[in-house]
Amino acid sequence: MVTAVFPAAGQGRRMNVGINKVFLDLVGKPILVHTLQRFSRSKYINHLVVVVAAEEISFIRKLLKAVPGLKPYQVVAGGSERQYSIANGLAVVPKESEIVLVHDAARPLTSVETIDRVVEGAREIGGAIAAVPEKNTVKIVAEDGIVKETPPRKTLWEVQTPQGFRKDILLEAYRKAEEDGFLGTDDSSLVERLGVPVKVVESDYRNIKVTTPEDMLIAEAFLQKDRLKRTKDAAKKVIGKFLP
Ligand code: CTP
Ligand code: MG
Repeated sequence: MVTAVFPAAGQGRRMNVGINKVFLDLVGKPILVHTLQRFSRSKYINHLVVVVAAEEISFIRKLLKAVPGLKPYQVVAGGSERQYSIANGLAVVPKESEIVLVHDAARPLTSVETIDRVVEGAREIGGAIAAVPEKNTVKIVAEDGIVKETPPRKTLWEVQTPQGFRKDILLEAYRKAEEDGFLGTDDSSLVERLGVPVKVVESDYRNIKVTTPEDMLIAEAFLQKDRLKRTKDAAKKVIGKFLP
């Protein structure tokens, strides 16, 4: 069994619209709904755990009830940091889950291929994360603003979610992070501290995290492209009636 945990309990401060960005409408439905429907389309995913702010739980339950095509799901309260929100989600992951994926609710454009390959990678070696090759030259800079080092670009990958792990590994990583007071910026960094290998799965540049207002335009543009194809197919059906 594979369970996916979706941290959605942030405040979306950088989006600067005064509401949690995962509720923002993207071509007709909330970002969160796009994300959950995408994961529900994966043949591997059996169960969803949605982590939201405590005061949003009842609203989200109502919202999700009306959403078609979702795999079975639970809604639980998050914490003050992303890592704490995920820890709350992990606490309710069904016992039968062998693999757990963590995915930012704010990434609504993940391809089903990426989701499936992360599950396969996690099954294979214990941990797998979606990532894309770094496009820019990246420098390590000292606090005084002086460049220390230029890591070869070929070795650099920009990491995304989903990140998937065998459940026992991920739970142990979270336990140890809590014990050590370690706060990471992704889940893999917690697992890496155990010395467990984590595999990179090449994703695509569309799998953006909607973070600032311009990301909404980018996400909309990507979806518009999909929609164009769908509306073209739909139009063909209608026009087809009038064609010989
Ligand atoms: N998240 C969470 N609990 C938190 C903080 C973040 O579940 N305490 C979630 C967000 O809802 C988001 C994901 O983690 O889906 C990635 O975080 P980020 O993009 O930083 O979202 P926010 O924290 O909401 O945005 P910001 O940092 O701009 O306030
Ligand atoms: Mg944040």
